[in-house]
Amino acid sequence: MEVKTSLLDNMIGVGDMVLLEPLNEDSFIVNLRNRFDHNEIYTYIGSVVISMNPYRSLPIYTPQKVEEYRNRNFYELSPHIYALADEAYRSLRDQDKDQCILITGESGAGKTEASKLVMSYVAAVCGKGQEVNKVKEQLLQSNPVLEAFGNAKTMRNDNSSRFGKYMDIEFDFKGDPLGGVISNYLLEKSRVCKQPRGERNFHIFYQLLSGASDDTLMKLKLDRDFSKYNYLSLDSANVNGLDDAASFRTVRNAMQIVGFMEAEVQSVLELVAAILKLGNIEFKPESRVNGFDESRVKDKNDLKEMCELLGIEQSVLERAFSYRTVEAKMEKMSTTLNVAQAYYARDALAKNLYSRLFSWLVTRINESIKAQAKTRHKVMGVLDIYGFEIFEDNSFEQFIINYCNEKLQQIFIELTLREEQEEYIREDIEWTNIEYFNNAVICDLIENNQNGILAMLDEECLRPGTVTDDTFLDKLNTICAEHQHFESRLNKNSKFLTDHSLPHSCFRIQHYAGKVLYRVEGFVDKNNDLLYRDLSQAMYKATHSLMRQLFPEGNPAKVNLKRPPTAGFQFKASVGVLMKNLQTKNPNYIRCIKPNDKKVAHIFTDSLVCHQVRYLGLVENVRVRRAGYAFRQPYESCLERYKMLCKKTWPQWRGPARDGVVVLLTDCSVPTEEFAYGRSKIFIRNPRTLFTLEERRRACLEDLATLIQKIYRGWKSRTHFLLLKKSQVVVAAWYRRYAQQNKYQKIKSATLVMQSFIRGWKARNILRQLKYEKRCKEAVTTIAAYWHGTQVRREYRKFFRANAGKKIYDFTIQRIMQKYFLGLKTTTMSPMDNTWPAKPYGFLEGAHTQLRRIFHLWRCKKYRGQFTEEKKAVYEEKLEASEIFKDKKALYPSSVSQPFKGDYLEIQKNPKYQKLNSAVEEVLLADLVNKINRANGKGSPRLFLLTKSNFVLADQKTGQVKASVPLPDLASVSVSTQSDGFFALKLKEGSASASKGDFLLSSEHLIEIITKLHHIGTTAADRDQINIDISDEFLVQFKQDKVCVKFIQGGPKNGNSAACKRKNNRLLEVSVPSP
Ligand SMILES: Nc1ncnc2c1ncn2[C@@H]1O[C@H](COP(=O)(O)OP(=O)(O)OP(=O)(O)O)[C@@H](O)[C@H]1O
Ligand SMILES: [Mg+2]
Repeated sequence: MEVKTSLLDNMIGVGDMVLLEPLNEDSFIVNLRNRFDHNEIYTYIGSVVISMNPYRSLPIYTPQKVEEYRNRNFYELSPHIYALADEAYRSLRDQDKDQCILITGESGAGKTEASKLVMSYVAAVCGKGQEVNKVKEQLLQSNPVLEAFGNAKTMRNDNSSRFGKYMDIEFDFKGDPLGGVISNYLLEKSRVCKQPRGERNFHIFYQLLSGASDDTLMKLKLDRDFSKYNYLSLDSANVNGLDDAASFRTVRNAMQIVGFMEAEVQSVLELVAAILKLGNIEFKPESRVNGFDESRVKDKNDLKEMCELLGIEQSVLERAFSYRTVEAKMEKMSTTLNVAQAYYARDALAKNLYSRLFSWLVTRINESIKAQAKTRHKVMGVLDIYGFEIFEDNSFEQFIINYCNEKLQQIFIELTLREEQEEYIREDIEWTNIEYFNNAVICDLIENNQNGILAMLDEECLRPGTVTDDTFLDKLNTICAEHQHFESRLNKNSKFLTDHSLPHSCFRIQHYAGKVLYRVEGFVDKNNDLLYRDLSQAMYKATHSLMRQLFPEGNPAKVNLKRPPTAGFQFKASVGVLMKNLQTKNPNYIRCIKPNDKKVAHIFTDSLVCHQVRYLGLVENVRVRRAGYAFRQPYESCLERYKMLCKKTWPQWRGPARDGVVVLLTDCSVPTEEFAYGRSKIFIRNPRTLFTLEERRRACLEDLATLIQKIYRGWKSRTHFLLLKKSQVVVAAWYRRYAQQNKYQKIKSATLVMQSFIRGWKARNILRQLKYEKRCKEAVTTIAAYWHGTQVRREYRKFFRANAGKKIYDFTIQRIMQKYFLGLKTTTMSPMDNTWPAKPYGFLEGAHTQLRRIFHLWRCKKYRGQFTEEKKAVYEEKLEASEIFKDKKALYPSSVSQPFKGDYLEIQKNPKYQKLNSAVEEVLLADLVNKINRANGKGSPRLFLLTKSNFVLADQKTGQVKASVPLPDLASVSVSTQSDGFFALKLKEGSASASKGDFLLSSEHLIEIITKLHHIGTTAADRDQINIDISDEFLVQFKQDKVCVKFIQGGPKNGNSAACKRKNNRLLEVSVPSP
């Protein structure tokens, strides 16, 4: 929230002189001094700002300050030039009122600085943007250029503006700057030729010589040494704190920003150089025949260089310095110039040249900075013009300046009163006539067209005949003698005849700001401001284009016999235009005052300030401002500020502010004549009333502060107390909880102990009770059982015999079965074990055999379950053997216990059979057999090998294969039913092997051989099963013959082995020993 403050807050002295009590010159100055001592350099007189030059940089122009004053009401903050600039800018932007800011004050009072501050403030707060910034920059940069050419070091100010400047800054409807127009007034051109002691020529001369490069200086035919130039005073060529060389760079840069072309800058510098050269031209007298002296240029070198610079023919200029053409009644006459006249002509040329150059610069800057858009502009004018000058020796310039100030005062009075009056009307306040001094009469004395001083001066200047300053004074004495503000000693019936402070060659004018004594010497000359036409024509002949431009009257084609307007006339006209311009605008005043003559900080010279206060008419200012009501304030702010003075308005007034103020003032018993109620403002007649209110407010604020303090302290203590209380409660609660918890824990554990004891005791009681009850119940049960038994027995005794038989039978059967099953337990788990207990009872017949079978099957299954794969294969073979031979051949039982070894010859290991081994595939069986000779029945040993695909017969000794028969060629095998080892391998008829005939062999491992052969036959998928014939008589095919092999039971005469004997062609008999 923005804090509403007031100018009245923390005031040092009074911030607004309108509030000064008592109002007089002394109190005014004391207030200024008081504020100045506290670095308060700005003070208001209503809306006028008084600015004291601090002669040092104060930290009050920072961007923060700009922000502080931005968009704030004028009286809201302590007095500042920014407040005025802000007010002016805002009413220009928001209320569409053109503004002018009039800055006055004596030399060195800070006018130029103030104007720059205003411009920089406006530049800071107005819109931004590339185009706008460029315009701003150009406007701001016009200052260094004008200052270089128009400012000089004087005794009073190191950077004194030697011209009056009025600048119109133009804005668009948004308040963005569009451009500007500068007007210049009365450049002090005499300074070009001559400077008072301790002062300097215009800055540009020194800047050029110090800052320009050697090359530039050479081109301009200049020397860096100041002492080489007559027009430059030597005693203060270098000024402390002024760096001419740096300034030159700044100026060149500024010229570039403003928009000067390089050629233009060069031309300007050439003219400056030409002026310096001109000053060095000197003349010597040359006697003529007619006895008069004629001037001649002494040393032509400078003249030559100047002519070269400007492109003027040397002889033309030379002539113009020696002769003068006078035209009278259409006749041209040439008169010679004496040395003095030549010097006069030279200086007149230099002054004219410089002042025209200056005006050209202003025009050129205007061209650059003028607003481009043709739309309606809002304008803010800034007038930085010399203030009243009262020197010991006042001349034409002071007269003109003071005239200007009279006009400004006039406009000030007019506008202030008008504004005051307008406000009264606006606020519906009765208008009381204001007593003030109206200086219109002084203005009239100077500017009246018939008998004004300026008119008479012009008249004198234009009058034929001898005209001198004295004739002019005479004229004044006759015409103005009666004027109450004109004083002269030569006036015949003057009351000043004895006034020795008024010399004879002077007149005195009582300006509104004080009396000023003017010495008439030079008035006529300065007013004439003559430049011989020969010179202007010579200048026009120059090839330098800017030069020609500056002297248009030198054009022979445009010879104008009319005299040029006098300086006074021109000034009056331009002041007239300025006044008209200002009158259309809303004025804002800045009155600058310098505190001392020494240009130093912290010194406040009362007499000097008093002098300025007087001639600026500041006390008069306050009076005018206070004539009606000293102070006014909108109702809202008044109520806001003083509402604490009345209970009804404090803390908040509900209702219109005006009513609130009425209640407030009535309550405060302010006399009714002390104030008036306007439409929106309260008007307070006397500052004292305001101060009384302020004093009461201050007291009230103290009370309020105490109240606030009290409430705050109370609040603080209460809050602290409440906090403590709250904390205490928390602490207490926690402690209580802790204590209670402890106590509870103790009680709880005690209770538990007690409880456990009691429960134990109770439990024991109950246990005892229960035990007792149990015993009772048991006793009762026992008794009851016995009793029931007795009863039942008594009851059932009669049924007992009938049921006893069955019961005994069942019991007996149960016992028998039990015994039977326990008896079976002795049987072993071996499948070979054939033992099985004999059946004990006939009725178990069926169950007994079934049990035996089931048990055996289960036992076999168990036994099989333990077999490995190899063992399984062995048993399978054995099983196969049993299927083939069991109960069919007597040999079989003896083979059961013999394991099937397969390779009886260990054919793998035996090196003898190496060859054989490699000749056949994997051997399933290898054995030594006897091959029965077909002829005699005798056996010869052979190796018999069986593989998966064939059987082989080989020589026992050599291992040579005798026969290898593929198994598919084997049709059947025949054996006897006896216990012999003979077997016949019958081949299929028609097969390749059959040609050799069937084989009759005998082996000890017959059972195994046949089983394996059969097994191969059953497992091979591609073959038929091999038939096994078991009979005691079978046919064998020996080559072509079929022979019958017959087995007979014979006596054991041949030992245990069977014997084979060929009986005849068709019979082979085998006798097998009987078992
Ligand atoms: N507000 C200020 N803060 C600091 N210094 C200031 C201020 N105003 C003026 N000065 C100092 O005073 C000097 C003179 O000020 P300035 O040139 O503005 O005077 P002036 O009134 O324009 O004089 P003149 O009439 O001779 O042109 C400045 O060069 C500067 O040093
Ligand atoms: Mg100035």
